[in-house]
Amino acid sequence: MASLVVANWKMNPKTANEAKKIFAGTVAGSKKIKRAQIIICPPSAFLGLFAGKAKKVKLGAQNCHWEEKGAFTGEVSLAQIKDIGCRFVLIGHSERRKLFGETDEMINKKVLAALNFGLTPILCLGETAEEKEEGRTFQVLKDQLEKGLNGVIKKMADKIILAYEPVWAIGTGKVCETCQAEEVNIFLKKAINEKYGRTIANAMPILYGGSVKSDNVLSFIKEAKMSGVLVGGASLDPKEFIKIAQQIDF
Ligand code: 13P
Repeated sequence: MASLVVANWKMNPKTANEAKKIFAGTVAGSKKIKRAQIIICPPSAFLGLFAGKAKKVKLGAQNCHWEEKGAFTGEVSLAQIKDIGCRFVLIGHSERRKLFGETDEMINKKVLAALNFGLTPILCLGETAEEKEEGRTFQVLKDQLEKGLNGVIKKMADKIILAYEPVWAIGTGKVCETCQAEEVNIFLKKAINEKYGRTIANAMPILYGGSVKSDNVLSFIKEAKMSGVLVGGASLDPKEFIKIAQQIDF
């Protein structure tokens, strides 16, 4: 399976020009990439700028609402993001959980809605520093996974991508040790196997996210056996982002 290299720009580019520069740099660099699939998730305000602008680089949104339309001021719908060319959507990022009060129930509604809409949800999971210290990492992940996938039937499960992002590793420069990432990978695969069977467990991509750089990315793929990475800060620098993709372009 070719690696997935997902850019989460978060709320970072301040202007359309800045966003266009990062996009153009990434698209230009993507010509060097043979197998890895690049997905860029810009802020919603800029998504429309990139619709249909690149074939090799796919577009994703950073969030969505679960309702099709209506009086939900400030929200973005799946119909809207799909219409402007998104095929992927990040769901349950820890920043959304922590800063915007997203619960597992809300996240589950978004996952179900995205699947029903034909978009690929990238469901983000991860423990906080406190939960890790208390030795609750696997319980937290199990809970987030079970609640997030509640009601997702086997027929739809093969459309899901998981992203393990330990909260304490996001934007901190503290990289998760490869051995922990590998343990989590095995744990999540086992949980998916129990829920949906071996074929889906083997095929479901599991990404790692949290302070990924070109000099640490390889171990997450080679040793921790992740299917790809979800990159925050480093995705704003197209040269570094493409270097990351090049490291795992096999
Ligand atoms: P950083 O790569 O900046 O640590 O962010 C990771 C992340 O949150 C991606 O979704």
